[in-house]
Amino acid sequence: MIEKDLNEVINIERTVFKHPWTNNYFKLIISDMNNYMISLKQEKSIIGYGGYHLLKSNTNFLSTKKEYNRIVHLINIAIDPFYQKRGCGTFLMNTLVNNARLKHGDYCYLEVRPSNSRALSFYKKFNFTIIGIIENYYPYEEEDALVFGREL
Ligand SMILES: CC(C)(COP(=O)(O)OP(=O)(O)OC[C@H]1O[C@@H](n2cnc3c(N)ncnc32)[C@H](O)[C@@H]1OP(=O)(O)O)[C@@H](O)C(=O)NCCC(=O)NCCS
Repeated sequence: MIEKDLNEVINIERTVFKHPWTNNYFKLIISDMNNYMISLKQEKSIIGYGGYHLLKSNTNFLSTKKEYNRIVHLINIAIDPFYQKRGCGTFLMNTLVNNARLKHGDYCYLEVRPSNSRALSFYKKFNFTIIGIIENYYPYEEEDALVFGREL
């Protein structure tokens, strides 16, 4: 994702999320070398995007039996509603997972609203399982976050 993608990205972001990231926030995210954001295009139009933050080596806050060295935080993923349910999200997620593996990511986690049933089935399809709950993570709705994780 590059700065000139942001108008199209934000159009999708505003359509799919109640509390969309702002243009400035996307700028901040893409300027951080530890973030990997991609835009998914069909011909010249952006139809989705997603990305992750690669945590520093040995930042391991997981209470798993196994030790992980390079943790990946999936920070956003969205597909334009017109293109949803056609495999685009799957393609995007596979791309992100493969890229994270290339950067030696060995575990991925993400937060999701329990009310986001589409996203819940999406992550379950990718073998993510619930590893925790963060209370009141979405304060406007007083909604907790489910934390999903899986090995990469
Ligand atoms: C979640 C999201 C990225 C999935 O993208 P997508 O392109 O529709 O996904 P795919 O077509 O590749 O579907 C993959 C799987 O996701 C699940 N899924 C996708 N849409 C679904 C729906 N409307 N209802 C139930 N499950 C759904 C299914 O398990 C599906 O597998 P299947 O086709 O074998 O049934 C998309 O719904 C989206 O952008 N949602 C809004 C943004 C969002 O909520 N992002 C996640 C924030 S945590």
